[in-house]
Amino acid sequence: MGFWSREKTNIDYTKLPRHIGVIMDGNGRWAKKRGLPRSMGHRYGAQTLKKITLFCDELGIEVLTVYAFSTENWKRPKSEVDNLMSLLMEYLSNAEQELGGKNVVIKIIGDLSSFSDEIREQINKTEKLTEKNTGMVLNIALNYGGRDEIVNAVRAIVKSGIPADSVNEDTVDKYLYTAGNPPVDLIIRPSGECRLSNFLLWQCAYSELWFSNVLWPDFDKKHMLRAIADYQNRNRRYGGV
Ligand code: IPE
Ligand code: IPE
Ligand code: MG
Repeated sequence: MGFWSREKTNIDYTKLPRHIGVIMDGNGRWAKKRGLPRSMGHRYGAQTLKKITLFCDELGIEVLTVYAFSTENWKRPKSEVDNLMSLLMEYLSNAEQELGGKNVVIKIIGDLSSFSDEIREQINKTEKLTEKNTGMVLNIALNYGGRDEIVNAVRAIVKSGIPADSVNEDTVDKYLYTAGNPPVDLIIRPSGECRLSNFLLWQCAYSELWFSNVLWPDFDKKHMLRAIADYQNRNRRYGGV
């Protein structure tokens, strides 16, 4: 726990969200504002991810799930998709070294079947290298779509032969990519867009949502602390009184 964070904020460390989801949006607009190519926005966005990962681990967050590439992002120009893929390879190959001592467990969630063998090998390698760590779990959502995840779960449930009448909400939970993770308490979306864009659709049923105009490459510790402080001021009723 950094001294700085305890000094400057008034979040309650005994009531932290256990699982935070982040839609890392606004890289393109951040670059445009500076007259830079969109690729530079993605590069700075990846730096932000490293900083925020270490900070959340330090705070004591159990799981951080970040949206890095959606099932819809293939619609972008091939040059941008290629750029995102090479950035991803770079991120994953450096991740163990950069996050290693920090004990973060890296998991990639999403439909990985669309990725090249090279990318899938790197994903396996990074996951293997960090699987014995005991700190925060970082789920990186790649070729992830909430609807796709639910379709996948339904297929797996049908294949498993579980009788239809025995399928309940817990069954579905167990077949999602986030199986075993605590419920998503807080979803953060920077960039000014107030939508989920197909992120954690099942899991967000009772998540608190936090939106901000800050663009992802500019997102820093104080925004994370502000989001957590706001979350702690919400009254979660879950349908009760
Ligand atoms: C988020 O930033 C990164 C990905 C979706 C991969 P964007 O690239 O969507 O940035 P904006 O929304 O165009 O500013
Ligand atoms: C959501 O951002 C996906 C990621 C951040 C990876 P988008 O930029 O793709 O979402 P839309 O198009 O604004 O809904
Ligand atoms: Mg965007």
